[in-house]
Amino acid sequence: MNDITAKPTTLVIFGATGDLSRRKLLPALLRLEVLGLLPECFNIIGFSTRAFDSNNGDEGFKDYALSALREHYTYDFDESAAKKLLSKTRFIRSTFEDSDGYTEILKRLDDIDQECGVACDRVFYLATPPTFFPVIIDMLSHSQLADRRGRGDGVLPRIIIEKPFGQSSESSAKLNDLVLNHFDEEEVYRIDHYLGKETVQNILFFRFGNSIYEPLWNQKYIDHIQITVAESDGIGTRGKYYEEAGALRDMVQNHIMQLLALVAMEPPTTMTSENIRSKKVDLIESIRPVEIDNIDNFIVRGRYDKGIINGETTVAYRDEANVSSDSTTETFVALKVFIDNWRWSDVPFYIRTGKRLKARKTEIAVTFKAPPHCLFGSEEKACPKDNVLVLKIQPDEGIDFDFNIKYPGTTQRVDNVTMDFSYKEAYDVTLPEAYERLLLDCITGDSTLFPHKRAIETSWKLIDEVLKGWQSSSAEDVADYLPGSAGPKEADLLIERDGRKWRDI
Ligand code: BG6
Repeated sequence: MNDITAKPTTLVIFGATGDLSRRKLLPALLRLEVLGLLPECFNIIGFSTRAFDSNNGDEGFKDYALSALREHYTYDFDESAAKKLLSKTRFIRSTFEDSDGYTEILKRLDDIDQECGVACDRVFYLATPPTFFPVIIDMLSHSQLADRRGRGDGVLPRIIIEKPFGQSSESSAKLNDLVLNHFDEEEVYRIDHYLGKETVQNILFFRFGNSIYEPLWNQKYIDHIQITVAESDGIGTRGKYYEEAGALRDMVQNHIMQLLALVAMEPPTTMTSENIRSKKVDLIESIRPVEIDNIDNFIVRGRYDKGIINGETTVAYRDEANVSSDSTTETFVALKVFIDNWRWSDVPFYIRTGKRLKARKTEIAVTFKAPPHCLFGSEEKACPKDNVLVLKIQPDEGIDFDFNIKYPGTTQRVDNVTMDFSYKEAYDVTLPEAYERLLLDCITGDSTLFPHKRAIETSWKLIDEVLKGWQSSSAEDVADYLPGSAGPKEADLLIERDGRKWRDI
């Protein structure tokens, strides 16, 4: 975990009664409380439009938060830690447009500073639908909540913004301009929860903590890299959001782009936020934009059909609630991507993500080039198979390495075996939830795990090009696939045309 000690802090959660807050933020805060990682003087102000049936105000919210914690806290429930956390919790009922609500925040923040006897750091978490981001940012500024003046050296406000950060490069730039009008870049924390995952953070430790792999980590020795983010669930109740997003915006622009950056970036000079984030930006800026006229050779879209999973009938994407019956939104996307720099020239990165696939699995598989000559005979069984290094992000967190040995016996037979490391087997600890780490980092003021403005805008530019290419296409260009499969067969062709194969999901 983060080694920096947190200073007295007040966290204001906009959208405090929403799904994200109930399922992720409040449980993560309780975990930090249990682990003793929150500062002694730590307070929460919940802000939302919700009215409670009884016990309006602070007490109503505390009951609400307690029930959320009971329902969603995934560790053994610690009643006394929960009570301690909630004793430091307040609530303001207001719309996001009402200036009185913000005046009330300011008043409560000042009261808390008085109680704590210091100027506490103020962290504003925008856990609302994105349509409210602009008004909240504006109101924060107009009500002096973003002010640093008179609050003492180093007491900076911080703002945490949930995804989606824009819908295009234009809207993300607009949102960046707006927020950076009132906050400095170092005060802005754009959430990408994949960066809070332990195994994602491990990518840099693995790459730069072992001298045996890094010299091979380039076009000379690597044949190709596959990034898979497969989900077995459908879109659930998020039809309205998903229709506007699709797999490309929902997963590729953010989570997958960050995975790609971590696996392919140059080593940072030091592990500071500035250095790491700037190397990631360099990498994203080196991704080759798609050729619009040739888009089908690089990208395949799919949409899940109806089917049967584990004996249960599942509906087609187009029959999901709030989804149009002639929707062209993709629930699966496979891409071939190139990075135009010295290290990765001509190395294809095959990327795929989708809903309702065979299993939930996120991994990055690095396939090394075959030995230059097959020494042990000309038959298939005598030829070494690929050396593949697999960074297993979830659900079986760990690392596998496939290598070749002699099969025991009198024949010249090569066998491919796996050396595997599993977090679960190696350590008697539960890997922290992404939001635990991310919230702690916001509280301590460490922005390493939060994408920089330029990373977001550049990745949106790449996505814009693809969307432009898709604009003139028809619904038939989105291939149906069966739930429980590995996606449409067109995705197989994308990689098989190059003489390679997707790994099993
Ligand atoms: C979210 C997407 O950002 O990430 C969801 O909006 C997706 O559609 C989710 O299901 C996946 O996250 P995880 O942590 O379950 O892999």
